[in-house]
Amino acid sequence: MIICKSPDEIKIMEKAGKIVAKVLSKVEEIIKPGITSEYIDRVAEEIIISENAIPAFKGYKGRFDKKPYPSSVCVSINEEVVHGIPGKRVIRDGDLVSVDVGAKIDGFYGDAARTFKVGKVSRDAERLWKATKEALEMGIEKGKVGNRLSDISNAIENRAIKDGFSVVRDFVGHGIGREMHEDPQILNYGPPGQGPVLKEGMVLAIEPMLNLGGSEVKIMGDSWTVVTSDGKLSCHFENTVALCKDGPKILTEA
Ligand code: MF3
Ligand code: CO
Repeated sequence: MIICKSPDEIKIMEKAGKIVAKVLSKVEEIIKPGITSEYIDRVAEEIIISENAIPAFKGYKGRFDKKPYPSSVCVSINEEVVHGIPGKRVIRDGDLVSVDVGAKIDGFYGDAARTFKVGKVSRDAERLWKATKEALEMGIEKGKVGNRLSDISNAIENRAIKDGFSVVRDFVGHGIGREMHEDPQILNYGPPGQGPVLKEGMVLAIEPMLNLGGSEVKIMGDSWTVVTSDGKLSCHFENTVALCKDGPKILTEA
């Protein structure tokens, strides 16, 4: 069941979204060669807490028999797709670093991710980054009342294919609200014109993950970090988007 939010509820979600956006802006400021992913986590957590919000990912239990997620953000570098656990790994010049942030305030969640290009990245990295960012934008544009859910999926896949990239199929976007993961699941591929009709008040976390090589991924021994099976680069962008009468409204922007 897809839960539609009232305008007042969307205002609260916007508050959560602004906190997430603030964290991502700060990360953009501090990210540079030499810092650890753990440092990013510490800076992010401090901001979330200082805003009286709760780091949404910390202690999150996956659907399976996993250990709870240990950190406030996910930091996924190069061949890491999503859910990288912050640690002692040092960020290097040329890295593609996805930072995913979730915050809960007044009972509602916000969830967003950006991939940062650190220093001088390869031509491939540059192209993959641009395609992923545009795939998210093009998916969001389809978030109009009256469209079908898979119109979003299809727009994302088309942008990926245009440059010969593949789309991760094992992880998807999702509805969001009083839970971080609500219905519906939002595939990043597939034909248009399928799935539920989009309604006013739906709030969606749209999150394309594009790979330079094949779409296959695997999970590392830490039970969280998702990497590409072929070890090639991956990129991830995410926004929480409310479907309003006059079009999609991105809640996780400054
Ligand atoms: N944006 C990611 C998602 O929706 C972040 C979840 S990280 C987790 O799955 F640790 F909380 F699972
Ligand atoms: Co998400």
